[in-house]
Amino acid sequence: MAVVAAMGTTIIFLSSCGCLYLLLLFINFFNKVWWTPIRIQSALHSQGVKGPSYRFLHGNLKEIINLRKEAMSSPTELCHQSFSRIQPHVYLWSKLHGKNFFWWKGSQAQLVVYETEQIKVVLNNKDGNYLKPEVQPYLKKLFGDGLVTTRGEKWFKLRKVANHAFHGESFKDMIPEMVSSVEMMLGRWKDHRGKEIEVFQDFKVLTSEIISRTAFGSSYLEGQQIFEILTRMVLIFSKNLFKMRIPGIGKLVKTQDDIQSEKLGQLIRNSVIKMIKKREAAMADWQEKVRNEILELFGQQNPSLEGISRLKTMSMVINESLRLYPPVVGLLREVKKGTKLGNLIIPEKMEVHVPSLALHHDPQIWGDDVHLFKPDRFAEGVAKATKNNISAFLPFGMGPRNCVGMNFAYNEIKITLSMILQRYRITLSPNYVHSPVLVLAICPQHGLQVTIKAV
Ligand code: HEM
Repeated sequence: MAVVAAMGTTIIFLSSCGCLYLLLLFINFFNKVWWTPIRIQSALHSQGVKGPSYRFLHGNLKEIINLRKEAMSSPTELCHQSFSRIQPHVYLWSKLHGKNFFWWKGSQAQLVVYETEQIKVVLNNKDGNYLKPEVQPYLKKLFGDGLVTTRGEKWFKLRKVANHAFHGESFKDMIPEMVSSVEMMLGRWKDHRGKEIEVFQDFKVLTSEIISRTAFGSSYLEGQQIFEILTRMVLIFSKNLFKMRIPGIGKLVKTQDDIQSEKLGQLIRNSVIKMIKKREAAMADWQEKVRNEILELFGQQNPSLEGISRLKTMSMVINESLRLYPPVVGLLREVKKGTKLGNLIIPEKMEVHVPSLALHHDPQIWGDDVHLFKPDRFAEGVAKATKNNISAFLPFGMGPRNCVGMNFAYNEIKITLSMILQRYRITLSPNYVHSPVLVLAICPQHGLQVTIKAV
């Protein structure tokens, strides 16, 4: 009898604990998806910062998806007014609510900061309060648990190593590898003289080949499997960019994409281990100007490290291209603890978004010719081009977490362009459709078809 009573008490106790636990879970969930967003929204409204209203669970994600669908429904003319197409939500809301507005990525508030001084505070992160946000599990599979995604002491150590790897002297050994990779690509182009070729795919292969050679001492063919997997993971990332994520649920239930990216992540790790084990024209006048500069510096010789640092006209062309089409369209940080930014009080855990693409397309900064391709605006450097507002040109970010591969990327672009223009005159094919899209980075939706003719 006593045993039955004790069992009964235990069952009642356990079910009460279970109910209490479920109730706490529910309160916590409700707090995250309703109470906190409403509190943040009214705190920002009371400071004069506006934005689209919070909607239960999805925030503004449905609106973003619809705006993007609408913007993408037709190709644009061949002009560079691409901001409203690539980020239609940022374009629309900055017009409606002012440049310093906020919006909702699900139940996560994102504040857009635009003022030079505010951008500097956020990106320079002198007080250690503006951290890279935690990334979603499927993104960690794409970027790895390395320099791009880590924070704190681990990031500091990795960054030191990377700074060293990408420093001046180290490039000496990388240049011949870059040159060989470009030679391989140009070898494939030989049979296509006078015909149309699609170069976006070729450039993806080239970039992968160069990274494989310089980082792993391997070749693209060996690295090919990894880059194919990465391409599939980029697609998963793009699919998930504006998908709603319910707080707390992600840890309990894995989506198909989480599972797939986990599998792909494992494939990449296997391939890297195997590899390490194995070997431990549209702008014809500018094209002509750059070609003349290259021929003056190198003639028909392969480019040298010393020479590429003197390619001034080409640097202007590269900067202008990165201004109009910055591969990374915005920079994100998460506020560790509540803080003051200028006159604004920002609650903890809020995400702060520095809108590079919007800044690059702002006529107030660049002038009325902002949508024109005019490399000579960079003739006297970035400071002059931005009227001393250097935080308005952010293709590689700014501050301690800026792009560690910036010089690597500039060198790679300069070598590739030099070697192409030494041999070929490029014209845009009539089959090219101008349709820049955001798939992790900005890229041409239908490829980049050009025709090459021997110089
Ligand atoms: C045109 C080419 C490239 C562009 C436009 C670009 C752009 C960027 C930007 C904007 C950031 C800063 C992100 C932020 O502040 O949140 C970044 C970070 C980074 N980039 Fe690049 N990048 C390029 C090429 C490269 C290359 C070639 C490498 C490596 C070889 C590289 C490695 C990295 C790494 C490791 C980080 C993270 C640094 C850190 O958090 O400390 N990037 N990149």
